[in-house]
Formats: sequence, C-alpha cells, structure tokens
Amino acid sequence: MNLLIVDDEASLRDFLSIVFEEEAWRVETAGSLAEARNALAKHEPDIILCDLMLPDGSGIDLVREVKAATPSVAVVMITAHTSTKSAVEALKAGAFDYIAKPFDIDELKIIVRNAAERKELEEENIHLRTALEERFTFSNIIGRSARMQEIFSIVQRIAKTTSTVLISGDSGTGKELIARAIHYNSGRRGKFVSINCGALPETLLESELFGHERGAFTGAIREKKGLFTEADRGTIFLDEIGETSTAMQIKLLRVLQDHVVRRVGSNSETQVEVRVIAATNRDLAESIRAGTFREDLFYRINVIPIALPPLRQRREDIALLVEHFITKYSKSMGVPQKRISSDAMRSIEKYHWPGNVRELENVIERMIALEASDVLTTKSLPEHVLLGGSMPDVTFELPADGISLVDHLEGIGKIFMLKALERTGGVQTQAAELLRMSFRSFRYYAKKYDLISRERPDEVVEVENEI
Ligand SMILES: Nc1ncnc2c1ncn2[C@@H]1O[C@H](COP(=O)(O)OP(=O)(O)OP(=O)(O)O)[C@@H](O)[C@H]1O
Ligand SMILES: [Mg+2]
Repeated sequence: MNLLIVDDEASLRDFLSIVFEEEAWRVETAGSLAEARNALAKHEPDIILCDLMLPDGSGIDLVREVKAATPSVAVVMITAHTSTKSAVEALKAGAFDYIAKPFDIDELKIIVRNAAERKELEEENIHLRTALEERFTFSNIIGRSARMQEIFSIVQRIAKTTSTVLISGDSGTGKELIARAIHYNSGRRGKFVSINCGALPETLLESELFGHERGAFTGAIREKKGLFTEADRGTIFLDEIGETSTAMQIKLLRVLQDHVVRRVGSNSETQVEVRVIAATNRDLAESIRAGTFREDLFYRINVIPIALPPLRQRREDIALLVEHFITKYSKSMGVPQKRISSDAMRSIEKYHWPGNVRELENVIERMIALEASDVLTTKSLPEHVLLGGSMPDVTFELPADGISLVDHLEGIGKIFMLKALERTGGVQTQAAELLRMSFRSFRYYAKKYDLISRERPDEVVEVENEI
C-alpha cells in the first residue's frame, strides 16, 4: 500500500520514510500543502501521515480536501503537542486518528496499521452490509454477534414454555426488549405487564403487585386488581428484582411456588397463571452473600438465565444498531433516510458506550435531529464519543467543591492502562510490563475497568486487591 508523509521537517520525513519502508510501505513525501496536492494526484496514497502546521497552511485543510475527493483514504494527523482542540478539529474534519509530538514510533506504527486494516475492511464490507442485516433481526432486536445470536436462539426455544426467566445485564443492554420478545413469541393469550420493583416503596409495591381490598389501608377507597391478576395467562416482567426487600421476596416466592395471590387486606387467595420474567443489573450471587437476596427465590427465578453482554463486548453489533436507529428516527421525524459517514461510524464503533444501546440510540436520535444535510458526519457527534470517551477526565486543579482522591487516582491508573494496551496492540503481558505491574494484577484491573473488549476465558485469574 502507498503511504504519503507530509511534514516540513526534512529529518522527520527521512526518518519516517525509513521506518515505513522497512514495514513494506511504498512511501512518498511532501514538505508543504502544495507538494502534498501534487503527490496526491500522482501516487494515489492509501494512507496519509500529515503534520498539522505546514508552511503554506494547515494540515486540516488537506484532510478536508482528501475526504471530499477520496473518502476512503485515511489521514493520520501529527499534532505539535497535546492540544485537544486541534485534535478535535482534525477528527471532525474526518481524520482517522492523531498522534502528538513527540511520539513513540511503535505507537505510530500501530495507528497506521489500524488505518490500513480499516481501509481494507471497509472496501470489502460495504456491499455485504444490507444483505446481512436482514438475517440479524429477531422481533425488532438487532444483533449479529455470536452472543446475541445465541440469546435469540434461547429466546425462541424457551418462549413457549412457562419457565421463569432471569435476565441480567447492565443498564440499557435491552433487558426489557428481550422480556417482551419472549412474551410475544410465546403465544400466551394474556397481557404483558411490566413493573419496576426498585421504583416503589414496599407497601405500594405490594398493593401494585397483589392488589388490595377496599379500606385495606388509609387511602384505599376502592378495591384494586393487582398486576399479577392483570397478567393472568400472560407475562409479568419484574424489573430490578434485586431491589426488593427480603419480606417482599418471601411473598414473591409464594406466588411462584403456589400460583396464588392474596390482596392486601384480604384473607382469601386467588389462583393465577402467570409467566414470570425477572431482570436485574446487580450480581444477585453477590447480594445472596451479602444477605440482601434470598437464595430460595434466586433458584426459583433463575430457571432460565439470560445474560445480556454490554455493548462494548459485542462491537460487531454497533454498525447494525446504528443503521437500525437511523432508519427508525429518519422515519419518525419525517425526514428522508439519512446516511452516516464512515469516519463517524468508526468513532461510534470505538467508543465504550457505558450506557449501552440506550445511550447509542439517544446519540443517533440527537444527531438526526441536529443534522441538516442527509449525511451524519463526525461534526454532529458529541465530543466525548469522538475522542473515545473511555479516557476519564483528569485534572490537577482542586475544584471548589473538592474531589474524590481515590476515584481520581483510579482514573489516572485507567488512562495509563489504556495507553499501555494501545501501545502494545492489546497484548496484556507487555502492557503490564510497561506499567511495572504483575500480569495478574493488570488482568484483574483490566477486567474491573472493562478495558478488554474480547474476553479470553482461559486467561481468567482470580486476584484480590493488589496492585
Ligand atoms: N439489540 C437491540 N436492538 C434494538 N434496540 C435495542 C437493542 N437493545 C436495546 N435496544 C433499545 O435500547 C433501549 C433500552 O433497552 P431496554 O429498555 O430493553 O434496556 P434495559 O436493559 O431494560 O435498560 P435499564 O436497565 O436501563 O432499564 C430501548 O429503546 C430498546 O428498544
Ligand atoms: Mg429496563
């Protein structure tokens, strides 16, 4: 592949030429914008390495010209010092990535290699996308990753049974969506009823779930049907079941065992036939150890466990989800179907999405609302997504209202671990060496901070707090 190096410093140009020629690149160089434009016309580079400050203008102008003429060419910017402002500007203009001077040559090699891989992938993938999309949708749930495909197949197999299901997963991973899919594929005639057990105080939750008699308590002016009764022959979705009190857990256990409910203030019981799907974003095993969740209830609800992985552990789903939400919001806002630039897509795929699919959906909705043209570009991406928000904010100023030193030190540790992983191309043993940490504790914290996107079960090591 062809590499064009644009820098006004002759010694740097020579040095980079030697390095990349050794890596089997065909290298051309230019010392100014004018020379770069000439070289562009003659050599058709695949990747451009470009200094920000050139004698006859800014490298960002070159990024804009290249992106307008040949969008598949990736430009890596070399910025003078860590000025986030110019880095953001370069990324917004469509640069693939940036590196700050003085830089580590190995780091630059990795960036250039990534750019090349990306370019190849893009060229292969473009025409495959739409054909594939149709095969990766199940009841409006999108997912091509092996883990989501497995979940779809479990949902299909268990939908028609009456077994209790426990869905676990971080906020925004799609727990309620899965619960609904189970119900709508079950053929059950009753309703799907959903309640957030964490949002109500205990007494209110009890009368919501089981109903109450007239006069059962102050304010109970008329009798009320509970949700279990309403969901008769249907499905009840008990969201955030881990937030219930142990007293409430005993009552839930009774419904699950005997299929009867007793209204608050009543002394008789009614039979119900309800399928229960529970969800939690807590580790219930941990709650059992802590004594806040009953083990007997856990075994009752955990008949079919479904664990939804966070979005950053199934990055191959991101592009499909983006397309899905673009279509959804273009329609609902009554605008012509928008498209998205590959640079914007790349930043979205790189981001760590702490709020999972819900956060991604919100970002796309906002981009569509704000973008006047028919292409969503990096310009309309929120800055934290653009800069790869997995970097926590670090400051050396003491804010007026103080700071949590422990959290802050943790943030600094996380930044160094991310940088070490980037430099070593994800090789954890080498990253640990760079930080003078044992592999075991590196692995422990990498897991804790969720820095590794692909899990390698054979490498799991148990380590207690040591750094
Ligand atoms: N795989 C998916 N395909 C399409 N849309 C999805 C997918 N996963 C989640 N969503 C969408 O993301 C949003 C959040 O999903 P949902 O409410 O099911 O998450 P949740 O796990 O219940 O979150 P929380 O714990 O915050 O309640 C919804 O708008 C849902 O439609
Ligand atoms: Mg939910």
